[in-house]
Amino acid sequence: MNLAELNKIAVAMVAPGRGILAADESSGTIKKRFDAIGVESTADNRRDYRELLFRAGEAMSKCISGVILYDETIRQSAKDGTPLVKVIEKAGAIPGIKVDKGTKPLPFSPGEVITEGLDGLRERLVEYRGLGAKFAKWRAVIDIGAAIPSYAAIMTNAHALARYAALCQDEGIVPIVEPEVLMDGEHDAERCRVITEWLLKTVFEQLYYQKVALEGMVLKPNMVIAGKKARNRAGVEEVADKTVKVLKACVPAAVPGIAFLSGGQSDEEATAHLDAMNKIGGLPWRLTFSYGRALQAAPQKAWSGRPENVAAAQRAFTHRAMMNSLATRGQWKQDLEKRHNRLCRPPTWTARRDWNGRPARADRETRNVCSRPAGERKAQLFTVS
Ligand code: 13P
Repeated sequence: MNLAELNKIAVAMVAPGRGILAADESSGTIKKRFDAIGVESTADNRRDYRELLFRAGEAMSKCISGVILYDETIRQSAKDGTPLVKVIEKAGAIPGIKVDKGTKPLPFSPGEVITEGLDGLRERLVEYRGLGAKFAKWRAVIDIGAAIPSYAAIMTNAHALARYAALCQDEGIVPIVEPEVLMDGEHDAERCRVITEWLLKTVFEQLYYQKVALEGMVLKPNMVIAGKKARNRAGVEEVADKTVKVLKACVPAAVPGIAFLSGGQSDEEATAHLDAMNKIGGLPWRLTFSYGRALQAAPQKAWSGRPENVAAAQRAFTHRAMMNSLATRGQWKQDLEKRHNRLCRPPTWTARRDWNGRPARADRETRNVCSRPAGERKAQLFTVS
């Protein structure tokens, strides 16, 4: 293992102001996303959609450090024949690959799952490295219910995560280690904290036993947050405070960075929580994003499968990427959501009305005016180095 090289990649993945775009939805998941916007899930449509994200120049060059791809996507080429991996690299980001094969029911553990994909993983890693992947991802899923999670689910999933991480490092690939406590249930944030702590402690124990070098990995955890069906949802400050506390208790400072999943939070919630954690400051690792839904929900809706909507979808993606970039520095403000989004839009030109309030005739005294207030037209909201 070349630890210096692994560390260099891991550090670049969590560089200040940048985070990871998780575009690694399996064929089943992307079909669900496309169904919601009325788009048929064909290989060409999936390629066109992902290509528009990777060609969103400003977002990719200023805010995105890496992109997690799915097996199909890492082999695909853009419409002009350029491999998508090259499009990503040209934009200044690092290509990565999801290597787990999804979840299967865990025997004798009703309601619980184990992530599969270890068989033949070494050979697949070699192939993916040849295709340009510099990092990989494996997601373990832990659900909270009245009688779960069980010790068996925590232990087997942590063991598999460490097996995967060790294989990655042995093949010169940085592992993103993703132990996710789902936010599907009725549990409150305190129960999420307890389970997250148990899971993270077990994962780092397994990483230690299996000789994974912490300097050459990135952790991708859930935030400590109440379940979607909880009666009382914790506020932004409480989520930030509880998450930082549990991470400090479980994650050694040798880990270069932590890139959160969004897990079903709204776009703005995911940004606000990340921002609040970075505002706390004084942390031993970088805290950033590795969002799927919280980066893609808006561009997917704006695109809706129409070529004429590509620019609007890229603007929606750029907006979310920039808001999250600010959050990695603790510089996001709620009022930037509307202001920046407006600045992302091309100006709309509308005809002046005449003194009677009727639309002025184009051949008379009409002078078109920009819908954007003059002071805002050139405003520079922020720069990302
Ligand atoms: P979400 O941000 O939509 O949770 O996806 C992140 C991810 O990569 C899940 O494995």
